[in-house]
Amino acid sequence: MPKITFLSEDPNQNLTFEVEEGKSILDIALENDIELEHNCGGSCACTTCHVIVRDGMNNLSEMEEDEEDRLDTAEGLTLTSRLGCQAVVTGDCAIEIPKNVQPFRKAEQH
Ligand code: FES
Repeated sequence: MPKITFLSEDPNQNLTFEVEEGKSILDIALENDIELEHNCGGSCACTTCHVIVRDGMNNLSEMEEDEEDRLDTAEGLTLTSRLGCQAVVTGDCAIEIPKNVQPFRKAEQH
């Protein structure tokens, strides 16, 4: 099964999960209580699920035109940016959530 790592500023706090192939980064984040905003509910109509792929860019589904157009409007766009709701994991990858540089689990906020 592919592994996805949500990178943190502090490498000791990186979170890695084995995931079923075919799930989006957003699906995986939500299933694991990682805060990744998704204002439009995953329909490629916002940019709040913007993530930066640090490793394994080729292990994600190819970017469709819709996603490309939408991403163009994302804040802090990089060459390896993707929309979490559109990028489907097909192999190992490591990603960073730009706004919350430090990914965290909701339960750990308290
Ligand atoms: S949740 Fe809105 S584009 Fe991904």
